[in-house]
Amino acid sequence: MDLSKLRQFQLTPTTDIKPFQCGDADLNEFLFEDAKHFQKELMAITYLLEYMEKNQTVAYFSLLADKIIFNPDEKGVWNKLNRNIPNSKRRRSYPAVKIGRLAVNEFYSGEGIGTFILDNIKYAFANVKRLGCRFITVDALSTAVTFYEKNGFRFFTEQDKYDETRLMFFDLKTFLS
Ligand SMILES: CC(C)(COP(=O)(O)OP(=O)(O)OC[C@H]1O[C@@H](n2cnc3c(N)ncnc32)[C@H](O)[C@@H]1OP(=O)(O)O)[C@@H](O)C(=O)NCCC(=O)NCCS
Repeated sequence: MDLSKLRQFQLTPTTDIKPFQCGDADLNEFLFEDAKHFQKELMAITYLLEYMEKNQTVAYFSLLADKIIFNPDEKGVWNKLNRNIPNSKRRRSYPAVKIGRLAVNEFYSGEGIGTFILDNIKYAFANVKRLGCRFITVDALSTAVTFYEKNGFRFFTEQDKYDETRLMFFDLKTFLS
């Protein structure tokens, strides 16, 4: 896949969403049934990637504001996370952007598109300079945890180890340096 041929744009109320299918029915449904409603209510903004030569949606992702909050049961993780933050700036919560949804058309999986999207989100929010945003968060489907780990995301707690989704985070400061 030639990534330079991908066009990324924000969903609008009139966007004609081109065919898309990934391995997860909820994620397929969200794109066609819910994404515009979430956007109208300012609950999540969705971005689409299309391959210019094909009548297909290659991937999509949705973003919303979030924060990560100190969990007294996970002092170890919090201490590690705080190590990169100067003493005077340490808080009990930090601003974040959440990846509410991320899915790649199954026809193109394993071609680096998911990583390309994460790199773009990292770049955009590490350099946004319009609001403070220190972390990316995601409730990763258990089937996608390895993908996020390979892209530098870490677990926030061990308590969700056997759940359908796991809370993971990425420190944007590490992307800057
Ligand atoms: C998970 C998903 C977004 C990954 O996108 P992708 O474009 O296929 O991922 P990439 O090609 O960038 O893969 C990057 C690395 O992660 C690995 N990887 C990707 N998906 C994986 C998975 N489901 N399980 C294990 N490893 C995975 C790749 O093998 C690759 O490893 P490598 O660098 O050692 O070669 C995509 O497969 C998808 O949409 N799946 C269905 C929906 C989903 O699970 N979304 C996540 C919701 S939280």
